[in-house]
Amino acid sequence: MRRAIRFVLALVVGLALVTWVVLVVVQQTTRAWFEKDVNLRAQLAVSGARRALISHWQEEQRAGLQELLDEITHDERIMAAAACGADLTLLSRTREFPEQISCLELGMHVRPETDTSDAAWTSWTSEKSLPGGNVHVSAIPVIDRNQALGFMILVHDLGFVERREAKTRLFLLLAFGFLALAASAVTVVAARVSWRSWSNDLRRLLRGGSQRPEFQPLLRDVRELVERIVAEKDGDREGGAWTPQRLKQTLNRYLRGEKVVVVANREPYIHERSKNGEIRIVHPASGLVTAIEPIMRACSGVWIAHGSGSADRETADRHGRIRVPPGEESYLIRRVWLSPEEEKGYYFGFANEGLWPLCHVAHTRPIFRSDDWKHYRAVNQKFADAVCDEVDSKDPIVLVQDYHFALAPRLIRERLPRATVIMFWHIPWPNSERYGICPWRNELLEGMLGASILGFHTQYHCNNFVESIDRYLEARIDREQNAVVQRGRSTLVRPYPISLEWPIRWLKKVPSVDECRTSVFRELNLPQDALLGVGVDRLDYTKGVEERLLAVERLLERFPSFRKRFTFVQLAAPSRTVIDRYRQLNESIEQVAARINERFGHGEYRPVVMLRAHHEPPTVFRYYRAADLCYVSSLHDGMNLVAKEFVAAREDERGVLVLSQFTGAARELTEALIVNPYDLDEASSALATALRMSTEEQHERMRSMRSFVSEFNVYRWAGRMLVDAARLRSRDRLTGRLADHITAVVGAS
Ligand code: F6P
Repeated sequence: MRRAIRFVLALVVGLALVTWVVLVVVQQTTRAWFEKDVNLRAQLAVSGARRALISHWQEEQRAGLQELLDEITHDERIMAAAACGADLTLLSRTREFPEQISCLELGMHVRPETDTSDAAWTSWTSEKSLPGGNVHVSAIPVIDRNQALGFMILVHDLGFVERREAKTRLFLLLAFGFLALAASAVTVVAARVSWRSWSNDLRRLLRGGSQRPEFQPLLRDVRELVERIVAEKDGDREGGAWTPQRLKQTLNRYLRGEKVVVVANREPYIHERSKNGEIRIVHPASGLVTAIEPIMRACSGVWIAHGSGSADRETADRHGRIRVPPGEESYLIRRVWLSPEEEKGYYFGFANEGLWPLCHVAHTRPIFRSDDWKHYRAVNQKFADAVCDEVDSKDPIVLVQDYHFALAPRLIRERLPRATVIMFWHIPWPNSERYGICPWRNELLEGMLGASILGFHTQYHCNNFVESIDRYLEARIDREQNAVVQRGRSTLVRPYPISLEWPIRWLKKVPSVDECRTSVFRELNLPQDALLGVGVDRLDYTKGVEERLLAVERLLERFPSFRKRFTFVQLAAPSRTVIDRYRQLNESIEQVAARINERFGHGEYRPVVMLRAHHEPPTVFRYYRAADLCYVSSLHDGMNLVAKEFVAAREDERGVLVLSQFTGAARELTEALIVNPYDLDEASSALATALRMSTEEQHERMRSMRSFVSEFNVYRWAGRMLVDAARLRSRDRLTGRLADHITAVVGAS
């Protein structure tokens, strides 16, 4: 019904437009006709009376001239007339002749100024507006044997033209209105009749009215599609917030609750044996883990990861499996064991000395070694095999995470051709020229195209990826669908900006903002009125920690009022320390911090505090809550979830986020103070602005960012990917069955 109303409305609007255009054209044409008609009448009137006019033109005959003019105005359309002499003076006029029209004014048009010869006199006509309405004025020369005696002025009433126009307008409007109603009624009736008969046919088919066997596979698929469409509609109607329950429902509804298998290098729970012999659980500092773990808790399934903890083997079963989270046990971790050589080649070497610097614009040269590549390939195969061990159907949903597993999607597809493989690339994708320096660029791209869906944080990274495909592979790019098609298989390439669970579960265990501030200030030995900035990162050169400290130094140089008042605390988790570049980074950061403290420290006061250690999430959140500002200064970052965590932590809507423009987060958290971390003047000014910002402004900015992160949370991120995957699965099932059906029919005939 709504569709019919929309159609009728569109029809009426369309017809109204057509009517308007027709009206304008008709009006202009009839007016031109009337004017032509009026002019002709004037010419006829003057030429009919020409002889008499000439004979009464002389002064002594003026009484007769007056009579002649009166006679001319007997014509019902001519309302007044006047005779003007060759010197443009009035000779005679009828009583109704309007004052506003003068011989002198019209004579200028009849007798051209440039040529005063009698032969140059010419007729002139125009419309004139008078207080009583519009009139049409004609001025016609009176010539006697090539001598211009003067000219006649005839004034025509245009009222009848306007009356006719109004009538035409009314008729046209009525005609088009009737037409619109008739057309709408006919269309609606025809649509309803054909829809009813079509849906009756379909219903009959679906209810088994048709027993013809060749229709059966098609019927099954149509039924399935209808169910999904209804389910999707219901899902849309749900609207509102994305929660773990809604994600679970989405999985049940669209994917029939099929098991989710995650492949990620880093495991969410690492068992470490401490020096005192006890086993403790470490939650790694990893954006990937922060985002994916809540999804696994909501959906359940298996997380396949490198078992990297010193007590991982003894805490897992003989297949490397362990149920987590401790005490909740809602999903499984399947640990994959790697030899030290494999870890060195695949993780430290190819992934972190090759792909990591290749994808980040942070000025560290990528190193590619063929030995590392060999291990990378082998480990990808090992994980793909683990996926095949863990799945319980021929078409599982596998979520492959990050640059450690570029080859895995194809390897999985080779063994499970009907799997839905969603690969998410958590780091940036470089431009095609830069990407081209990788010696195994084609193999990596081929590997990734094994995925059904390939996700990046931003459209920009999707574009870079598609450009790389265009440049290095034989594949068709379907720009309408945002897909890459190779050997008849397509991979959707879409942006899915990652986020956090909302609310964050850790916050339940974290004290109030005031308590956090008190305890952190006590730990750092800060006075009550001190100002505190915080940074939280793995110690990685892409995070711009060095630039961050330099900005703090610049702040203290430029704004002396912050000296002895402002302290910046950096929570720095050591990372990838086997790699030289990371060791150098550690040293240089240490030196910069020492220099700043040397320059601006005073007594107990140290402007920079480096807490170089792994910090568990409750500690990190305590620091977020205690701080006046958080500075995220990444030189290049796919998203950066620290920025979002800071926002999530600030239930008090206080604190200012200073955020690098080179993070994916800067596109979403636009109420942060966005800076170029290389520009120390700009960054230090932003720090000063943050420290001086009024409470109201802090509230306003923080409220808006919190509402964004809560709405665009990680359940929504996963939900969108799963819904897209469900659509693909429906389509693939349908086309697969149709293909089977056609093969069967062709084979039988
Ligand atoms: O997105 C990059 C990423 O995989 C994130 O999960 C995390 O920030 C980091 O790298 C983790 O690094 P690693 O697992 O090497 O410690």
